[in-house]
Amino acid sequence: MKYDIKNLTLDEKLSLLEGVGNWRTSNANGKVKPLLLMDGPQGLRIAPTSEESPVYGMSNEELAKVEPTAMPSCFNLANSWNTEAAYLDGNTIADDCIDFGVDVLLAPGVNMKRTALCGRNFEYFSEDPYLAGHMAKSYIEGVQSKKVGTSLKHFCMNNREHDRFHISSEADERTIREIYTSAFEIAVKAQPWTVMCAYNLINGVYAAENKWLLNDVLRGEFGFDGLIVSDWRATREPWRAVKATLDLCMPKQEYAAGLRRAIDEGIITEAEIDERVERMLALIEKTEVEKKSATTKQERHERSVELAKESFVLLKNEDSILPLRKGKILVAEFTDNGFHHAPIGGGGSAKVDVLNPLKKLDGLIAENLGEAAEVSSVDNFVISSRIVARQAKIINRARQNDAVVLCVGNDHEIEGEAFDRQNIRLDAAHERMILNVAEQNENVIVCVFAGSAIDMSPWIDKVKAVILVGFAGEGVHEALADTLCGLNNPSGKLSETFPLSLDDAPAGAYEGNGLVDSYDEGIFIGYRWYDKKKKEVLFPFGYGLSYSKFEYSDLKIEKKGETDYEVSYLITNTSDTDGSEVSQLYVSDPVAMVSRPVKELKGFNKTFIPAGESRRVTLPLNFRSFAYYNLSLKRWYVENGEFEIMIGASSRDIRLSESIYINLDEREQLSQE
Ligand code: GLC
Repeated sequence: MKYDIKNLTLDEKLSLLEGVGNWRTSNANGKVKPLLLMDGPQGLRIAPTSEESPVYGMSNEELAKVEPTAMPSCFNLANSWNTEAAYLDGNTIADDCIDFGVDVLLAPGVNMKRTALCGRNFEYFSEDPYLAGHMAKSYIEGVQSKKVGTSLKHFCMNNREHDRFHISSEADERTIREIYTSAFEIAVKAQPWTVMCAYNLINGVYAAENKWLLNDVLRGEFGFDGLIVSDWRATREPWRAVKATLDLCMPKQEYAAGLRRAIDEGIITEAEIDERVERMLALIEKTEVEKKSATTKQERHERSVELAKESFVLLKNEDSILPLRKGKILVAEFTDNGFHHAPIGGGGSAKVDVLNPLKKLDGLIAENLGEAAEVSSVDNFVISSRIVARQAKIINRARQNDAVVLCVGNDHEIEGEAFDRQNIRLDAAHERMILNVAEQNENVIVCVFAGSAIDMSPWIDKVKAVILVGFAGEGVHEALADTLCGLNNPSGKLSETFPLSLDDAPAGAYEGNGLVDSYDEGIFIGYRWYDKKKKEVLFPFGYGLSYSKFEYSDLKIEKKGETDYEVSYLITNTSDTDGSEVSQLYVSDPVAMVSRPVKELKGFNKTFIPAGESRRVTLPLNFRSFAYYNLSLKRWYVENGEFEIMIGASSRDIRLSESIYINLDEREQLSQE
């Protein structure tokens, strides 16, 4: 270790355990390097109005020349089902961090999407912990490959914004382990430099003071050996946080002073403080390495475009109206009316402000289609700009065209931190506009900008095509134009269920009683819920169309051990268009002595397959692919018997399946993990 704790006075040590201002940490009277921690999952929030910001005082003109790149949201990354995309995303943001001297990026968030209403769902990956965990793990690896730290957040059960500082998320231990800590357990294998604890309580104890969670589970069982930082103002009683092994309290408040009093009163010892200080010194040392960004601003923008292309989900394409080829096309696109442009992300700490205007969608489509098309555009406005969509203008123009590309959706004032949505439908003005335009033109293509599930049932039957754009970052229009015109073949699939109605959802609009949010649905969230209740959904988890067609065949399951298997299968692109296919591996335990989901995701793969060709996909299964957390044994447990291995194009489009039988020695069953 470069730093010797013995060279620090007690007050210098205490100063290291809380922030200096909002984003920086102490230099302990010049004895250590202070750190800069900044948001967020979609790129750097450089907070130019904050005196701590590296760009404080810059004019907008100066800022526009250096501003960080707004990458696609983690919602979009999850919809790409491509871990390499997540890695590249993190790697790109890390270059901005290096240029701005940021030591730790406060991302990614892996909270489960328990309710589609959660305002921060755009920051999170999925309703499934396996998908969320693996995407987050790659994102972390991408950032930290550049020697920039990350902060895996918010640990744990911060699944709603309503009353997040005070409400207690309540669930049994099996639910916590199988659903709410499981994504962290997978992502921690990338050894994030920090984990951020959540605001809320878990079963009555604040996350920041929850020793079972922070020390026993995260450190002891998951093997996390980094620093635990509080969410901003998530600490309450400093000594209780130290006892729970929280290391760093952000931002500055009366934390060090509180610890000093606790030492003087004999509540905690200097040795307990030293353990926390050692974690901080280790983090500081990790940041003191040579770092060089490897990309230009233009290259980062191009990566943002490419990753957005990977993430779009084609939900409907009746009469193969897409890709667009020719004719008179009206584009009703979000336009920059001074302070709003196309929604590229959600609101709050994850918001990345881009001063440079986005390229216009109509011009990009015109460029792609050339002489074959006559493209015109009409302004549409995001709802929160309070200039509600100019329906008449759009409708009048609609009837004079062969097709209409209609951009609708939410923006950062509808989906963001500190508030939840009240429903999951589009704003009434946008719904009305879709229906009115559809009356005038039978070829309507709807592009939905949103950060989480949207109930499209009121209008989806009236339009020919729907693309889920998501919150896709600053390259959204370049990526969307290429997708609409067939230069990009959409390959995303849903990382969360789109229900027919919020009434069908497990947590629905319920916000708890102001004290407790009781997770009564247990492990049955997302597709686990809709499968258990045998409910129809608008679009299932894992669903997405392509301009290609794929067939699945030749499932092979090779046994390597009683709970170790190698599953392989063939995917053939039977179309004349090259494309990528996301295939999913689900495991089902049809006869179990505990309630279990109908199926659970235990593997996935995205493969590029040229037209007319086939590729074999191979995925492993291991003990945890079959196990559940047994409350009586207090451990992960595989019950002997039949298991069904399913390969799906979505969770409700199972193409191949085969049963295997596990017969573990009864004694061995009780000793695993
Ligand atoms: C916020 C968020 C957290 C963010 C931090 C710093 O309240 O919950 O995700 O990183 O504070 O802005």
